[in-house]
Amino acid sequence: MDIDSEILFFLRSIKKHEFLRKTQAINLVASENRPSPIINQLRSLDLDSRYSSDLYSGTSFIRSLIDQVESLARKLFSAEFVNIYPISGNITNLAFSLGLSSPGDKIVMLSNDLGGYPLNLTHFNRERVSLPFDPSSASVNLPEFTDLFSTSNPKITVLGHSVMTFPLDVRSISSIVHDYDNYCVYDGSHVLGLISGKQFQQPLKEGADLLVGSTHKSFPGPQGGIILSNSEEAFNQVNQLLIPHGSEGIVLVDNPHPGRIAALGASLLEMIAFGESYAKQIVANSKSLAKSLDKEGVPVKLAHRGFSESHQVLLDLPPEICSHQKSRLERANLFSDVILRFGTSEVTRLGMKEEEMKTIAHFIKRIIVDDESPKTVKEEVIPLVKSFTKVHFTFDDWNEELELSP
Ligand SMILES: Cc1ncc(COP(=O)(O)O)c(C=O)c1O
Repeated sequence: MDIDSEILFFLRSIKKHEFLRKTQAINLVASENRPSPIINQLRSLDLDSRYSSDLYSGTSFIRSLIDQVESLARKLFSAEFVNIYPISGNITNLAFSLGLSSPGDKIVMLSNDLGGYPLNLTHFNRERVSLPFDPSSASVNLPEFTDLFSTSNPKITVLGHSVMTFPLDVRSISSIVHDYDNYCVYDGSHVLGLISGKQFQQPLKEGADLLVGSTHKSFPGPQGGIILSNSEEAFNQVNQLLIPHGSEGIVLVDNPHPGRIAALGASLLEMIAFGESYAKQIVANSKSLAKSLDKEGVPVKLAHRGFSESHQVLLDLPPEICSHQKSRLERANLFSDVILRFGTSEVTRLGMKEEEMKTIAHFIKRIIVDDESPKTVKEEVIPLVKSFTKVHFTFDDWNEELELSP
């Protein structure tokens, strides 16, 4: 292939992707969201090719930008301490796992098969112990948890999972953990947008030592991670693994990606202004989607608790059916995941409300219950996508205000 054909081939896949995502498909992947135009713009500036270290010239504005973004995060989350250097939620998990424990220590996390984040702690010489959890009520089994503590004294207890429909009893669990002088960490990767919009539990107020997570799932920012805390002692232990060029050298992050940090600042401003109404609508949409699916005869988990108080709705089907139906839904341009966990963050960001959730539930029913051809459903999905292309919960006048081009 000559270079012109290579370029065409390369650009064609990207264009096809953009066309599909922005004009053809409804995205119900719970781990994803749609950034606003300003977030995309900020990630394409000169900033995005720079380092922040004072070892390099020309970086002082970047360090003051980092300070500003950190102070926005402190304000939005009512947290005294913040670190925005992690480039993903995964790095935040590594940071607390390594910072708050020593080799050989035990860390309690929900097991992968129940929706825990599948971090391989054995690789880092930590032992992963399963959180006693009842999936039928989406709650921690407190008596079993108490027993677990008295027998195995785990150093860190992680609450907050990849499959997350309801708040957890952070108050009781953190109080048990603190009785043993150990740490309780809340992984808010999935529910951070709902926490920041005050429509979900407030883990730091309820006793968690750290709130960590991704900044791009229900929180509609750029891909990245954040660590928040009101405990100076716990924060410092984790922070030292994340400060570039700290006294003991680089550990988990060297370059924090300044373009991402600028974009995070914009999303924090958006959430300070619109976060509450955004999060409220996400939860209302989840409830509407779940109720409508249930009415349509599609089995949904946790009916007795009202289905969901988060951005996630979980179908109640055997794994092999989920995987098969995920492919059929995908052919109808209805994107979800292999466990049929539907997320409402992105459709909400695009301005959809309860009525559109009913329409989406009906599309899903036609695929899963009626066994209708994905192709015919897709013909009705595309017009719905095309009438919801604008990102909501952002400032319309960003560009005029900022005049970012020199
Ligand atoms: C609970 C939880 N923690 C951490 C992560 C990792 O986040 P990231 O994809 O930002 O690395 C995920 C990702 O899905 C997650 O679900």
